[in-house]
Amino acid sequence: MPKILITRRPPESAIERLADAFGHDALEIFPEDRPIPRDELLARVAGAHAILSMLTESMDDEVFSAAGTQLRVVANMAVGYNNIDVEAATAHNIVVSNTPDVLTETTADLTWALILATCRRLTESEHFLRSGQWSSWSPTFMLGVDVYGKTLGIYGLGRIGKAVARRAAAFNMKVLYHSRTPLSDAEEKSLGLRYVDFPTLLAESDIVSPHCPLTDETHHIFNAEAFQAMKPAAVFVNTTRGPVVDEAALAKALHEKEIFAAGLDVFENEPTVHPDLLSTENIVLLPHIGSSTLETRAAMANLAADNIIAVLNGKTPPTSVNLVSA
Ligand code: NAP
Ligand code: GLV
Ligand code: GLV
Repeated sequence: MPKILITRRPPESAIERLADAFGHDALEIFPEDRPIPRDELLARVAGAHAILSMLTESMDDEVFSAAGTQLRVVANMAVGYNNIDVEAATAHNIVVSNTPDVLTETTADLTWALILATCRRLTESEHFLRSGQWSSWSPTFMLGVDVYGKTLGIYGLGRIGKAVARRAAAFNMKVLYHSRTPLSDAEEKSLGLRYVDFPTLLAESDIVSPHCPLTDETHHIFNAEAFQAMKPAAVFVNTTRGPVVDEAALAKALHEKEIFAAGLDVFENEPTVHPDLLSTENIVLLPHIGSSTLETRAAMANLAADNIIAVLNGKTPPTSVNLVSA
């Protein structure tokens, strides 16, 4: 019987799927509803054939060595896998998988929720009302910036970036993008997008939204210089990974009104939020809920389970990110 370490309890459907395949006794689930502490992870992983991992924990050489040579697969319950040292996994002959596609539309919806909430100052307005400060309709109260008809700038045009771009058509927006691999002319035309260089993206967009993965190249790509290059009325939202943004530089840009507002679902050192961001009014802060719907979290967990089941049965996993053969 294989041993499958599940680092935090996922939606029940995935547990049932794994139990159906391998039996309940094969599953070792970290029982507490918090990220597994490092020492617990290193102890519990010994003898595991598979790990169902969360984005909150580092999966690296030390973990793979602590597991032992029988470890075959690390299935992350996230599409982003910057928490996993894929090179080390490959060297250990371990399949790494993620959960693409099943969360694309849900994360794009949340990105739009953040765009609208930030441009129209929703959380600030609600706090104002709940705290009893609202006294009357006023012609100059809580003025935001329009979304309809504006220019959206997407950095990193993959699955989620495209889904965000598609929704912009309903808001009659012009959509610019900058990405590692430009689309073909035909695809640009069908999606109604225009490729621009990074400085043009910053200078011409009213709303800027990164959707690239976190890598060495994208770390702090949104820095002081980038915020200075944006329009003073620009809105910056981030639902990808916190470290693509230099948070201290963003806080400074917001305090000094170099940009109008920001909306963040992800942070450099989760769950810590930079104190200068917490003390800023023109920001909407969400606790990393991009994919958090009943349907999508179940689909993500099921897909992670399917990757484990495939690898342990010697089949090709549906969504591996490295080339290790099962
Ligand atoms: P994806 O389909 O792989 O898209 C990423 C895009 O970024 C690709 O088009 C890629 O280009 C581009 N890219 C890669 N490196 C780049 C660089 N250095 N400069 C510019 N563009 C670059 O991934 P996805 O499914 O859309 O997910 C994107 C990210 O969203 C994930 O990595 C994850 O971090 C984040 N996410 C967050 C949440 C949340 O809860 N907030 C939920 C889901 C996902 P190529 O075409 O050349 O590869
Ligand atoms: C969530 O942040 C993910 O990468 O799936
Ligand atoms: C606002 O409520 C309006 O009627 O313009």
